[in-house]
Amino acid sequence: MGETLNIPPEETPRHVAIIMDGNGRWALSRGKPRLAGHRAGTENLRRIIRASADFNVEYLTIYAFSTENWRRPPAEVQGLMHIMEDVIDRELNELNDEGVRLRHLGRLDKLAPKLRKKVRHAVELTKENNRLNLNIAFNYGGRDEIVYAVQNIIRAGVKADDVTVEMMSNYLFTAGMPDPDLIIRTSGELRTSNFLIWQSAYSEWYITPTYWPDFDREEYAKALKTFGQRDRRYGGIDEKYYE
Ligand code: FPP
Repeated sequence: MGETLNIPPEETPRHVAIIMDGNGRWALSRGKPRLAGHRAGTENLRRIIRASADFNVEYLTIYAFSTENWRRPPAEVQGLMHIMEDVIDRELNELNDEGVRLRHLGRLDKLAPKLRKKVRHAVELTKENNRLNLNIAFNYGGRDEIVYAVQNIIRAGVKADDVTVEMMSNYLFTAGMPDPDLIIRTSGELRTSNFLIWQSAYSEWYITPTYWPDFDREEYAKALKTFGQRDRRYGGIDEKYYE
């Protein structure tokens, strides 16, 4: 593990979520195939996971494959499936040794049985770890997550008047976790892309033109420091304005 950051704990986001965008453009700008960008993005992910533990982030959620990414060419979809499998095969033991608890956000049913099994195994193996919670959003969509929650609420026979915000939160893939404090989006796009749309109601955003493979530890530290200077009011006003 590396150096920590000198940010007071109350200014450190407990939960950071990342839209790792720009792998394709990173590759194209170097005359490489898009999958080379995803591989470089995977290497960067290793660095950012370690930095998250060093920086005392409790939850890191990464958007690795969306419910809309199935629309990409089959070779790219297959490539991303292989990367997910590879990450589990090659990194799981080390992540486990470092105290990372791995969880999956999204639907497993559409994934190949072999990959599904590996994901379940990784989640089971790491379930007692508590140094860093790493959520991999894979075949994840925010709207799909909400539909799935509503279906399960109805299946559980909950009466309409008993549905509350807290209950909805408890039916999401992120049940029991804090909402993301900070969402980072690389490569400069200004949209949410169906990521954590319920949970991000009061998240702070950090958007950078840097492509994901180049988003390094220094820029991550900068994003966290910027977060520490934000004034979060959750729809209220500062006490000094009270009459
Ligand atoms: C967006 O860049 C990135 C993705 C859709 C995939 C992100 C995947 C990784 C970083 C690899 C790690 C993956 C796993 C499974 C742990 P883009 O392809 O949309 O880039 P572009 O907008 O420049 O085309």
